[in-house]
Amino acid sequence: MDWKINNAKKGLKGGLAPPPDKSISHRAVMFGSIASGTCRVENFLFSEDCRRTLEAFRAMGVRIKEEKNALTIEGKGLKGLVAPEGELYMGNSGTSMRIISGILAGQSFPATLTGDESLSKRPMRRIVDPLKQMGANIDTLNKDFPPVKISPAKGPLKAIDYKTPVASAQVKSCVLAAGLYAKGGTSVTEPFHSRDHTERMLKYFSADIKQDGLKTTISGMKELAARDVTIPGDISSAAFFIVGALLCEGSKVILKNVGLNFTRDGLLRTLKRMGGKIEVEELHGGVEPVGDIEIVTSELTGTTVEADQIPSMIDEVPVLIIAAARAKGRTEIKGISELKVKESDRVKTMAANLSKLGVGISEKGDTLVIDGGCKRFKAAELDSFGDHRIAMSMAVAALVSDGTCTIKNTDCVNTSYPGFLRDLEQLSR
Ligand code: S3P
Repeated sequence: MDWKINNAKKGLKGGLAPPPDKSISHRAVMFGSIASGTCRVENFLFSEDCRRTLEAFRAMGVRIKEEKNALTIEGKGLKGLVAPEGELYMGNSGTSMRIISGILAGQSFPATLTGDESLSKRPMRRIVDPLKQMGANIDTLNKDFPPVKISPAKGPLKAIDYKTPVASAQVKSCVLAAGLYAKGGTSVTEPFHSRDHTERMLKYFSADIKQDGLKTTISGMKELAARDVTIPGDISSAAFFIVGALLCEGSKVILKNVGLNFTRDGLLRTLKRMGGKIEVEELHGGVEPVGDIEIVTSELTGTTVEADQIPSMIDEVPVLIIAAARAKGRTEIKGISELKVKESDRVKTMAANLSKLGVGISEKGDTLVIDGGCKRFKAAELDSFGDHRIAMSMAVAALVSDGTCTIKNTDCVNTSYPGFLRDLEQLSR
């Protein structure tokens, strides 16, 4: 499907609750499935990516009941999964493939994980290397890329002390998930903090897990205790309306029930530094802190984003680039290499779209430089390149273009935000 999106003459106005958090929804199914007992998940994200995780665990014998916004998972315990018939198809979802690989490393049956065209080009050595060090029997079938084939290990997995070269929650979570099946304490040390939803949920499920600076350690061979989970709204989905409201003249938007985990809110900190009028009211600080966010139109000024901030806003960089293109002055975003191995090479796909909108960006080593000050983007035909976050970032750009933009190939938004267009229309009415 293609979208046609007009300049938002009246700004964005009103309130809505963004969809449930994708990262936490995946983890609720994964850890609920291997916990002992029943886990009810309120406000689950029924998107394509999360469905891949759900169907994978159903294929491994887990009973999962669906209601309108909720799931009930009958956990099978650490060793209760059964061999799936055929391959486990992960679609577009890197999170599913990488974290489930960690769980599969500890099972006594073989499984093969496949993905769509985009996932089939995403690097897997980052999880294969540590899992092999733990004694897992894992290989990629196409150089560094999927399919991923996992067979039962010769003996129990070995606990390791792993220093990961990339700050990636998917890698960290994969190793910690495998650590549940290893004897002793498995540690992961990251170069910078990545999102900590796995750690929070495992602790809540009574795992013996500790954080010491950048090092996280989990003790293996201990059953998880299932508990009910409520998923907050996804700050990565809210990001499009946060930037949209800042940029469109005459806007005032309230986004309700948004996850405010400190390892995810780098975009809010960056936009506030740029002059964004953003008020946050924290509602409660449970397993995951949650709050409402009010945004009004603001004049933005360019900023510098340091590399250690990138993991806290990794999925929001495309929409930040749109804000930077309109802000006064230069924005420099450091440490951009991970952007190139997402659902698309986001440096390339953003540059291709921005040049059509009349904006140039350049790369200086590992830094992206955006010279802002663009008052109105040129209305253009844009492309998602099959990447949901690029599609939605382009929709935000269209709101401040000088006419109507066409955005091609937008079905990919179903991976994280199936109701995006409806919600955008509601705010721009
Ligand atoms: C995710 C982690 C991030 C993020 C992805 C979801 C997760 O990837 O880009 O959309 O749920 O753990 P990395 O941790 O690999 O950067």
